Amino acid sequence: MADSDHHADQSPHADRTHQALSVRDACVGYGPVRALRHVTLDVPEGAVVAVLGGNGAGKSTLLRALSRTLSFHGGALTSGTIRFAGRRVDGLRPERVVAAGISQVPEGRRVFARMTVADNLRAGALGSTGSRAAKAGALARVHELFPVLADRAGQRAGLLSGGEQQMLAVARALMAAPRLLLLDEPSLGLAPLMAARIADTIREINAQGTSVLLVEQNAALALRLASYAYVLDVGEVALEGPAAELAASDEVRRRYLGVVDETAAADATRALDTPPSLRRWEADR
Ligand SMILES: Nc1ncnc2c1ncn2[C@@H]1O[C@H](COP(=O)(O)OP(=O)(O)OP(=O)(O)O)[C@@H](O)[C@H]1O
Ligand SMILES: [Mg+2]
Repeated sequence: MADSDHHADQSPHADRTHQALSVRDACVGYGPVRALRHVTLDVPEGAVVAVLGGNGAGKSTLLRALSRTLSFHGGALTSGTIRFAGRRVDGLRPERVVAAGISQVPEGRRVFARMTVADNLRAGALGSTGSRAAKAGALARVHELFPVLADRAGQRAGLLSGGEQQMLAVARALMAAPRLLLLDEPSLGLAPLMAARIADTIREINAQGTSVLLVEQNAALALRLASYAYVLDVGEVALEGPAAELAASDEVRRRYLGVVDETAAADATRALDTPPSLRRWEADR
């Protein structure tokens, strides 16, 4: 419905109508604690966008603002707007956000430990407005992505390994058939092999048409998955740019990303063999 795309432009931010998520000037406080200051961020439809930053930078706060779950943590959006597919979502109740197509996998892979895997997945479909057939379709898709969850359907979720619990947490969010998936540190505490599997799955979920906003402290992993990234520092966007450029920047690596593994550095160098899009404006005379 938005009418802002009448003038086509080549810049990555030009096509506003198809922009899945648009956050403008968001400020969040937990009582007197100001956790986000004037954060502006976009997730274009179909994209994987990463948000990096150290402990306490405000990454989880951002996702809570999007899923409208801040109040459960004593926080509130104090100013700014959040739009999804052109529609304001910053006044909605959390279940309406899910119905609008945004699902969150919260920090710490919280699954219902005493419930079975199958019941955890059923709980994930509760927020969905889809038909019975759509829910069956979502379950089939989730079982295809994570066959282990089909094998363990009757088992209590608390007995799954850490990596399997993370899979279940992601699968539960997918049961609502989201158009945008919010992931809060999905690789945290996982062995490298399991983290790599989660990364593959994120890629697959995205390839099937779901946009992803990925919050990670594991910058190397996040920058491999994302096309664009933001760095949060004490509640503010300190840096943003195409993921490959952020990964390749010495300053970013030193100041914000800590030690980046050699694979990531090599990937970034290879990615830069294609001209960086930040400089695309130079082509326009
Ligand atoms: N429930 C809360 N009440 C008060 N302050 C909070 C609450 N949750 C977070 N904060 C504060 O808000 C700021 C941002 O926290 P947030 O949890 O969003 O950071 P984060 O980037 O997700 O960090 P981490 O990487 O450790 O998960 C921090 O200063 C934190 O102490
Ligand atoms: Mg966090």
